[in-house]
Amino acid sequence: MPDETEALRAAVLADLEATPDLRAWDALRVAVLGKSGTLTARLKALGTATPEARRAHGAALNALKTDLVAAFETRRAALESAALAARLAADRVDVTLPAPAAPPGLIHPISRTIEEIIAIFGAMGFGVGDGFDIESDWFNFGALNIPPHHPARADQDTFYLADSGTPPRLLRTQTSDVQVHTMLTTPPPFRVIAPGRTYRADHDATHSPMFHQCEGIAIGESITLANLKGCLIDFLRAFFEEPALKVRFRASYFPFTEPSMEVDIGWDRHSGEIGRGVDWLEILGSGMVHPRVLANCGLDPRQWQGFAFGMGIERLTMLKHGMTDLRPFYESDLRWLRHYGFSALAPALLHEGL
Ligand code: DAH
Repeated sequence: MPDETEALRAAVLADLEATPDLRAWDALRVAVLGKSGTLTARLKALGTATPEARRAHGAALNALKTDLVAAFETRRAALESAALAARLAADRVDVTLPAPAAPPGLIHPISRTIEEIIAIFGAMGFGVGDGFDIESDWFNFGALNIPPHHPARADQDTFYLADSGTPPRLLRTQTSDVQVHTMLTTPPPFRVIAPGRTYRADHDATHSPMFHQCEGIAIGESITLANLKGCLIDFLRAFFEEPALKVRFRASYFPFTEPSMEVDIGWDRHSGEIGRGVDWLEILGSGMVHPRVLANCGLDPRQWQGFAFGMGIERLTMLKHGMTDLRPFYESDLRWLRHYGFSALAPALLHEGL
């Protein structure tokens, strides 16, 4: 019998050592230590054995059970850590693998133009200001010297918000509202540009009910028309990447500037090339801030003066990139975006020449 006990020990330990995984380990555990397992059967048989036989084998069988329970536990721990190691090896992420070839995201041409405008004016000391898409009549018109019934209001087919008071609130028709917000909140001197959304009831190949403008305003004690001209010439030459671009200032009228000027650039009307040919193309509006606008915004016109300008961002973008139709800007057509989009990894930086 002691030999039989030792033979069982040797057989179970050999089988245990050979279990490849936890499933086989559990099957062996049930076969040996389970209710009808081989060792359990022998322990049960002790109950019917003679007292001598029980005395002779009881201690050895119980010692075997203790040893086997311990051996099973050791094997379980070994199998578990082997399983964990295998899973970790299989799950390993190879950080050196190239990224899957998903199409990269691209910067929309409007966003790119805004980045470029900010970079160019930023280099000239302009900060970036902000207004509101929904404005009161006063910020969009009144403070800018456009009183009720002024004909300039008819030029801008405005969206009014129903039931929003008297006079009603409106979707701003120009970013010039930011001039008013800036003068009311920022002690001069200051230089600010304000790119943003604007709205007019207009829709065709070159007009959209929602579009973008960029406003600019510089206020100081001795800012002159010469500063306005130098600033806008520098901007246009940098933006169109034409160092010798011809720029013309033409007398015009805006209610919020005096004097007022349209700014034209040289181009070839047949080829569409900017900076070539003998033709002129109107590109933006500008002027010296009207004394009444300064006074409306709490600045004493005898102390402060400055210039302002406003330009259409879609128009600048279309001219720079030779686009003829405005509508695809807002259609989210991926083919168009892939053709005209800009790499997100190459932001507009002035020192890199944009
Ligand atoms: N707000 C004008 C427009 O929408 C553009 C403009 C012209 C802005 C002259 C200005 C300016 O600041 O001085 O047509």
